[in-house]
Amino acid sequence: MAVQFQSAVKAIAGACLVVMANHGVAAIAAERGGVEDKIEYCQICHGQAGQGYHGYLTMPRLAGQQSAYLESQLRDYADGRRVNAVMSNVARGVSPSMYGAIAAHFPALNPPPLDGGAGGNAALGRTIFANGLPESNVPACSACHGPDGHGTGQIPRLAGQVPSYLVRTLSNWSQERGRASAGGLSAIMVPTTHNMTAAQIAAVAAYVGSLR
Ligand code: HEC
Ligand code: HEC
Repeated sequence: MAVQFQSAVKAIAGACLVVMANHGVAAIAAERGGVEDKIEYCQICHGQAGQGYHGYLTMPRLAGQQSAYLESQLRDYADGRRVNAVMSNVARGVSPSMYGAIAAHFPALNPPPLDGGAGGNAALGRTIFANGLPESNVPACSACHGPDGHGTGQIPRLAGQVPSYLVRTLSNWSQERGRASAGGLSAIMVPTTHNMTAAQIAAVAAYVGSLR
């Protein structure tokens, strides 16, 4: 009887272990599948290699982007600190616990810039990027975004970014990212965006969009 009872307990305990193990595997598989599924979802709009899309609805490039920056933007969209109806829905549809894993997918991607080389006044753009416009209090972009425009941490990569996205972003900064005025990182860019003319914005967008 005692032996029978013991082996029954062992059998039950064994069955529990199997169930728990299966659960663990299932949970991990679901989580992996979840992140991969979400990345496929991102690719529908941002391109297979995260290269972005230049068209009626411009999609920014995510390829090569700093993961800390990507993660911070997903949080900002979800919390309404960055205003965009499409991306707010996307970010709110993804568990914040997955943001890091999703963001980690993009830095290693390295497709060539979408529009090939620089169009527009890339010479003026290069000057603004490297030296700023001292007469209008525009700082050198390279001081923060790096001499190669690759960014670091929460300072985004600009190299290879779709120029039409850059123009729109720089022209609408206060409307789309103005809610970060409470000391958020977005505030750093406010004077820069206000002090550039449309022609200067187009020039710097063309230049950084051509960087690799
Ligand atoms: C339905 C199309 C669509 C899908 C799906 C989508 N995005 Fe976006 N995404 C956009 C658009 C449009 C923008 C530009 C929004 C703006 O200007 O603020 C954008 C912007 C972004 C930005 C800001 C880029 C930058 O340089 O600041 C990030 C980060 C981003 N998306 C990440 C993702 C991730 C991660 C996914 C998948 C979980 C995803 N997106 C899925 C359309 C989409
Ligand atoms: C003092 C540091 C600093 C300088 C100088 C600076 N930036 Fe930025 N920039 C930032 C930070 C930080 C962010 C991220 C803001 C956020 O998270 O909303 C940013 C964001 C941007 C973005 C948004 C990128 C995206 O993918 O949406 C663009 C475009 C940009 N900067 C262009 C420029 C240009 C062009 C110049 C030079 C004229 C410049 N920046 C100078 C710090 C700087």
